[in-house]
Amino acid sequence: MASFKEHIDLNNLPQHVAIIMDGNGRWAKKKGALRIFGHRNAIQAVRDVTEGCAELGVKYLTLYAFSTENWNRPKEEVDGLMELLVNTIKEEIKTLSDNQVRLKTIGATSHLPEACQKNLAWAIDQTKNNTGLTLILALSYSGRWEILQAVKALVSEVQSGKIDASAINDKTLENFLQTSGIPDPELLIRTSGELRISNFLLWQIAYTELFITPTLWPDFRKEHLYEAICSYQQRERRFGKTSEQLNPVG
Ligand code: IPE
Ligand code: IPE
Ligand code: MG
Repeated sequence: MASFKEHIDLNNLPQHVAIIMDGNGRWAKKKGALRIFGHRNAIQAVRDVTEGCAELGVKYLTLYAFSTENWNRPKEEVDGLMELLVNTIKEEIKTLSDNQVRLKTIGATSHLPEACQKNLAWAIDQTKNNTGLTLILALSYSGRWEILQAVKALVSEVQSGKIDASAINDKTLENFLQTSGIPDPELLIRTSGELRISNFLLWQIAYTELFITPTLWPDFRKEHLYEAICSYQQRERRFGKTSEQLNPVG
């Protein structure tokens, strides 16, 4: 069977792909298993898309792994997810380094258990000089939290006289976001068919192309990524202009 990969235009790749990895619980339920079984089986999908993005030459991949709101899940599930995070980082560090992947996080990571924070700090340090794909894990992250903390930091700079309030523009605020220095995602994928954003990258996705697939996250593989990129490449990104402006005749 022909692969979507053959149809990808490598000169028109998204620089930044963001993914809302959803559907682990439903995947497990379909198999009559506990939710944590779905989370464990999500790791292979993470490996596959990370490798897929690195191979294609995508520069940034942001994965929504745990939201601010996910703290409200049953303690057992939260504990299971945190343990999985620690173990996965330990297991994957070599593969990440071999593939020149640089790890970063966005979110209120100081809210994570100590063991997670230590592991993450170690993995970030180990991969800091890698020059390939930047893999950004959104952990204890929400878009509103991010914007609020940026606004607070900005207000304090204004109060101390470092920034003139009348000079604040998009760029000034962006400097205080967790994603400062990282281009906005051109493509956002959500698995499991839910038609919502769930508090992810609210500022950054202003003009992002959306790709929503019914595939549950543990079943997501490179081929699904290629399909999403092909779909993205067929879109006309108008940014408010008309199609005629973008394609003048003659
Ligand atoms: C996504 O899968 C993983 C996290 C949010 C941590 P879910 O756990 O939300 O799976 P569903 O949506 O219940 O199927
Ligand atoms: C969004 O998934 C968060 C992550 C994928 C980490 P959820 O499953 O938490 O989203 P809602 O609550 O159904 O919107
Ligand atoms: Mg969900």
